[in-house]
Amino acid sequence: MSSQRKIYFIRHAHPDIPIDERWCVGSRADLSLNALGRMQACLLAKELESADLTGVYCSRLKRARETASFLSPDYVCFGGLEEKDMGDWDGLSFEQIKNDWPEIYALREEDMSVTPPGAEPVESAKYRFRQGIEFVKLLTKGDIALVSHGGVMRDFFGNEKLPYTGYFITDENFNIISENRLPHPDMTPQLCLELQEAAELLPNIRAHCISEAAFALEIGKELNAHGFELDLNLIECSALLHDIARLSRQHEKVGGRYLSILGYDEIGSIIRQHDEPESEEISEATVLFIADMNTIEDHRCSVDERFEYSYTRYLLPRYEQMKELGILEVHARRREMAIRIKEKINNICGKELVK
Ligand SMILES: [Fe+2]
Repeated sequence: MSSQRKIYFIRHAHPDIPIDERWCVGSRADLSLNALGRMQACLLAKELESADLTGVYCSRLKRARETASFLSPDYVCFGGLEEKDMGDWDGLSFEQIKNDWPEIYALREEDMSVTPPGAEPVESAKYRFRQGIEFVKLLTKGDIALVSHGGVMRDFFGNEKLPYTGYFITDENFNIISENRLPHPDMTPQLCLELQEAAELLPNIRAHCISEAAFALEIGKELNAHGFELDLNLIECSALLHDIARLSRQHEKVGGRYLSILGYDEIGSIIRQHDEPESEEISEATVLFIADMNTIEDHRCSVDERFEYSYTRYLLPRYEQMKELGILEVHARRREMAIRIKEKINNICGKELVK
């Protein structure tokens, strides 16, 4: 006798809205995922690898389809699983909504059944969502995944809204058996490469990260051979992901924030420090910093070469404003720091490991 079927009700990954902002994203705003969202979907897929799903089904909206595509290339769209149409609010930030509709916004804060102007009523959304999932259930066998949306699932299950890529596992009568709010597979170098791909990191940046990771690992091993107990997996994974947001302004902060949101705070903290560690003590963060200061593109260099290379960029006109903000002083301070850390590591290792 086979055990009861399980149904994974998954909220899609982060849509293309600014991270750390709240937006009203319903079915009118048919947004794609952003880089963070694609990484979330990648982690979800890794976590569900062992789930033995017979099929992956999703709403027709892009963010659900793109999330489902990470779980299976053969995902199937089903009508009815879409998010509610949020009417005039759909696709706007809650900052703007609060400004333009202060009364309804305040009412809705108290009572989520208050609908925005022109929005789909909660009861009709619940009805068509149930029709949709009953239909999928009827047409399928075994354990399946349904990628849907936070609002309709909250209304249907009467639970708190799931975070992006959070999921409920239910029995075949849609009773919740368990809830997972953050997929969290063990981070490995292989998974880091998959995250690079999911984030669509440019090939030269990937090559840079891979080269730097190899050197950071070498330094970490050498330091451990001299009595340290550095976490080599943490060093390698942080190096592979350190430029994950390379094209963003303040890329170290954005990249660090991505990893914290994904649930990997230690890696996030090291990424945040890769331009300038908080302390000069030997740590995973200083190892990554010094490896970065010994890498240009995908080849090794000396600290001096690295700083000459970055200095020449500041001569470009587009850095004029940053010069006024003191970027050259920051550059000089980091160079001094890199020289001190380099000498410390070379002394410990008894050789010129870092140039
Ligand atoms: Fe780097």
